[in-house]
Amino acid sequence: MHVAALHTPSQIQLNQHGQLKHFLTIEGLSKQTLTKILDTAHSFINDQNQLVTTPILQGHTVMNLFFENSTRTRTTFEAAAKRLSANVLNIDIARSSTSKGETLRDTLWNLEAMAADIFVVRHSSSGAAHFIAETVCPNIAIINAGDGRHAHPTQAMLDMLTIRRETKKPFEQLSVAIIGDIKHSRVARSDVSALQTLGCKDIRVIAPNTLLPFGFDEYGEGVRLFNNMEQGIRDCDVIITLRIQNERIHSPALSSQSEFYKLFGLNQARLALAKPDCIVMHPGPMNRGVEIDSSIADGPQSVILHQVTNGIAVRMAVLALSMQGQLQEKGLIEAISV
Ligand code: NCD
Repeated sequence: MHVAALHTPSQIQLNQHGQLKHFLTIEGLSKQTLTKILDTAHSFINDQNQLVTTPILQGHTVMNLFFENSTRTRTTFEAAAKRLSANVLNIDIARSSTSKGETLRDTLWNLEAMAADIFVVRHSSSGAAHFIAETVCPNIAIINAGDGRHAHPTQAMLDMLTIRRETKKPFEQLSVAIIGDIKHSRVARSDVSALQTLGCKDIRVIAPNTLLPFGFDEYGEGVRLFNNMEQGIRDCDVIITLRIQNERIHSPALSSQSEFYKLFGLNQARLALAKPDCIVMHPGPMNRGVEIDSSIADGPQSVILHQVTNGIAVRMAVLALSMQGQLQEKGLIEAISV
């Protein structure tokens, strides 16, 4: 039997002019494309550090399809689409006709027939966004808002924007530590990939062995593994803490949450080992007293809430750039050139 191979992410994510068409994963995108996203996001923040509102996507329709829970990601996509003057529809999946036996394919085709231009998709299955872009709705721009434990590309880009704006140093000069549940985290995967593409040479992954993926070497260049917090965190410029993804853990990976906090929780004594101006990040939702101490989450080195605001700018950039081809045809492209 012949099975047609799925296109690789880089082939499917770009149009024939090399412009972003779908945004499914960081893998396969060039430094130039990631920098374009960061520069475009930056252009949506004014000199007073406020997000702008622009008519770039007036007349376009963005549909939020969240098959899995979310607060920050769904709301910031909605805020981003509104700041670009798009129409936004939040589809209530739990109450949609899929619960009456309609297939996902039929639901999506019906939504497409309602004149959607962009689907923002979150799904618990790895590969869901790719599948929709490849085989169900290739003419709609598909933005992956998190698929299983695979990828969360807009989170990675908002993390990169936050690092760039807060450290004001080139990625080549930064030491970045990512701590916690690497195995089940789509954020860790996408962050590592974005850091590598942007030139970061010192990426430290800090976790107990039970929370590391099998064959850890797959992360490749520039990535070092530490099982010890004190060693891993020393002299780093950026710390990214991660939540333990209990919803994706089906057999015990930890003796207890308090044991995790004791060995891998970010507390003041450990933070003092990093550079004095080290920034602390977390994608949220955060479990205080498990992966991070409250005094750090609310302290002067925390940029966790800046990440949320930068998330709107990055999502504006990705939404606008995914429509670039269409805008160009209408002669509107200068509106998003940076
Ligand atoms: C992350 C996610 O959903 O993958 N959160 C987010 O998008 N803000 C991380 C998490 O759920 O822990």
